[in-house]
Amino acid sequence: METGIIFVDRNVNKEETYAQAVDLLRNGEVVAFPTETVYGLGADASNSEAVAKIFEAKGRPSDNPLIVHVDSKESALKYVQNVSSKALLCMDKFWPGALTLVLDAVPGAFAPSVTAGLETVGVRVPNHPVALNLLKRCGFPLAAPSANTSGKPSPTLAEHVYRDMDERIRLILDGGATEIGLESTVLDLTTDVPVILRPGNVTKEQLEAVLGTVHLPAEAGSGAPKSPGMKYMHYAPDAPVYMIENNPALIDKAIAYIHSQGKEVALLSDREVTEADYSFPLSAETLYRSLRQCDDTEVDLILAAVPSGEAALMNRLEKAADHKWFS
Ligand code: TXA
Ligand code: MG
Repeated sequence: METGIIFVDRNVNKEETYAQAVDLLRNGEVVAFPTETVYGLGADASNSEAVAKIFEAKGRPSDNPLIVHVDSKESALKYVQNVSSKALLCMDKFWPGALTLVLDAVPGAFAPSVTAGLETVGVRVPNHPVALNLLKRCGFPLAAPSANTSGKPSPTLAEHVYRDMDERIRLILDGGATEIGLESTVLDLTTDVPVILRPGNVTKEQLEAVLGTVHLPAEAGSGAPKSPGMKYMHYAPDAPVYMIENNPALIDKAIAYIHSQGKEVALLSDREVTEADYSFPLSAETLYRSLRQCDDTEVDLILAAVPSGEAALMNRLEKAADHKWFS
C-alpha cells in the first residue's frame, strides 16, 4: 500500500485538503493527522475493523486503550455518561486543548477495542486547525493514538510518521511541526478526587486551580484505576539513555570518561556542548525529535542533561532512560 502525503500549508481551511482523508476514514481506513501535542493515527472509533488497523500499524498491545478525538464538548457529550460538574468544568476551561478526560462511555458507542474492553473512554478535543477541520468534516469521532510504532518516540513531524508508517497506512496530513511536542495530560474523572494518569502540558497546578485537589497516581491509593498504557516502556531510542545532572563540569567529565572507553556519545541538553560527538536540544518541544535524531547516529550512549521543574518532560525522559542515571 502506498502512503500518500498531503501538505496542508496555507490550505488549512480548504475543502480539498480534507476530501481524500474524509473519504478514506469513512471507508474504514487509517489516516495520520497533526494535533497540537503529537501526530495521531486516526480511524472511525465506531468501526472495529478500522480500529484493528491502527493496532496492527503500530504493533500496539490490545490491552492499551486509544484516545477518542471529537470536535467539541457537545460532540463529546453524545458518547459519555455520568458526567460530573468537574468534568464539565474541565471541558469548558481546557478544551480545545491537551487534556484527555477519562469518563464513563455510553455502552456500544465505540468499537470494543478502542476502550480495550473498559467501561471508560479517554476523550479530548484537540487544539489544532487541521485536526478540528478533519473532525468536523468527518462528523464522527476518531480513535487516535500517537502515530509512532509502539515503543518509539511519538511523532512531532510528518516525516517521523512517514518513517514509522510508510506502506502501513494510506495517508498522512502534513501540518508541520506540532507545537507542544509531548502527549496530552490524561485525567481520570471517574473517581471523587480526579487522578492524573499521565502528566502533560496541562499541569497539576492548572487543574487544581479549577477543580480543587487532584491526585497523582501515587497519591490515589492502590484501588484506583490506572492508565493501562503507562506500564509500557515508551520512547526508547536504539542507544541506552542515561540521565545526568545539568552541571557543565559533571557533563564534561562524563563525556571524557565515555570517550576514554572508546565510545561515542550524544548529549541532549538545553545548550550546545561541543565535546560530545553529537549535541541535540532538550525541551518538551524537542525531546522526541532529538531522540529520533540519535537513532540516525551510531552513538553507543545518550546522555540527557535533566532540566528542572517540568513534570511532563521529566516523566517522558525517565521512561526513555528507564530511570537510569549516569554515574
Ligand atoms: O496527545 C495525545 O494524547 C495524543 C494525540 C494524538 O492526541 N494521543 C496519545 O494517544 O498519546 P496514546 O494512545 O498514545 O496514549 C493514550 C493514553 C495511554 O496511556 C492509555 O493507556 C490512556 O491514554 N488511556 C486511554 N483510554 C483510557 C481509559 N479508558 N482509561 C485509562 N487510560 C486510558
Ligand atoms: Mg503513544
